[in-house]
Amino acid sequence: MTTETRLKIAIQKSGRLYDDSIALLKQCGIKLVRSKDQLFCKAGNFPVDVYFVRDDDIPAFVSEGVCQIGIVGENVLIEKQARAAQNKASDSDMSNIEKLLPLGFGKCRLSLAVPNGFDYKDISSLAGKTIATSYKGILRDYLKEKNIKAKIVTMEGAVEIAPRTKLADAICDLVSTGATLATNGLTETDIVFESQCVLIQNPDPTPAEQDLLNRLVMRIKGVLRAQSSKYIMLHSPLDKLEEIIAALPGSETPTIVPLEGTKDSVAIHAVCDESVFWDTMEDLKSKGATDILVLPIEKMLD
Ligand code: PRP
Ligand code: ZN
Repeated sequence: MTTETRLKIAIQKSGRLYDDSIALLKQCGIKLVRSKDQLFCKAGNFPVDVYFVRDDDIPAFVSEGVCQIGIVGENVLIEKQARAAQNKASDSDMSNIEKLLPLGFGKCRLSLAVPNGFDYKDISSLAGKTIATSYKGILRDYLKEKNIKAKIVTMEGAVEIAPRTKLADAICDLVSTGATLATNGLTETDIVFESQCVLIQNPDPTPAEQDLLNRLVMRIKGVLRAQSSKYIMLHSPLDKLEEIIAALPGSETPTIVPLEGTKDSVAIHAVCDESVFWDTMEDLKSKGATDILVLPIEKMLD
């Protein structure tokens, strides 16, 4: 009997990264039929099993090899690694985890913030103060690097209420839109860490697992490239061709196509590696281009 090799991937079971993680897998051709509260799901059309876990647990799943890969916020990964490095007695060493690639979603920053009206000059204003955070590992390293001695109070959530309750003078928490800080009368002072979702891997997959992993990573890269690229088609007078091609954003080898019924102009088709904005289109038009079409790209494979 031969058992089929399956890749095991850990993703967040609910929360702000869940939808984007599922959407990315779907764009890679991996369909998941998951009922609510189900913690494990076998994909039908690609040999991958998905484990839905708390995002805090994803680094351990990957570090211990329960899953070969995971999708997790870099903030969570770095925090776990910082804590493991600081806690010499800890037997789970997260330093074996390899970061494969950033995924472009789940962008946020870990920032220090103080109550409005706090006389804040620079980080030295926090010397001797108390800072509440769920990220004591990252914060401890940051304060050490800045040579600031402050007391850290660990909270698992609702960090933003700490200054109001006099539990702390300042906080260090995730900021996305900034709405939570504003609502709680807090001002962001320093960015400690900029984060986004990353794909992580265990360092010791079997060769068969590595093959599957390579295939999946290639698909993910294709999806990410397609998301940031556009297909552009336009007509160009022959005598303006060079100038117009030079104005195409991030495109190296455009295709030139003759146009039926005219010798004075041609069509240009090109993949642009960057977004094509209205001002680029206006620029092309002012150089003589007409019939400009910009299309989304669904998938890419070189
Ligand atoms: C994070 C963070 C802030 C909020 C920031 O909490 O702790 O509370 O998001 O986002 P904003 O700048 O867009 O307001 P999250 O919703 O992840 O929940 P948690 O605090 O319970 O972990
Ligand atoms: Zn929060």
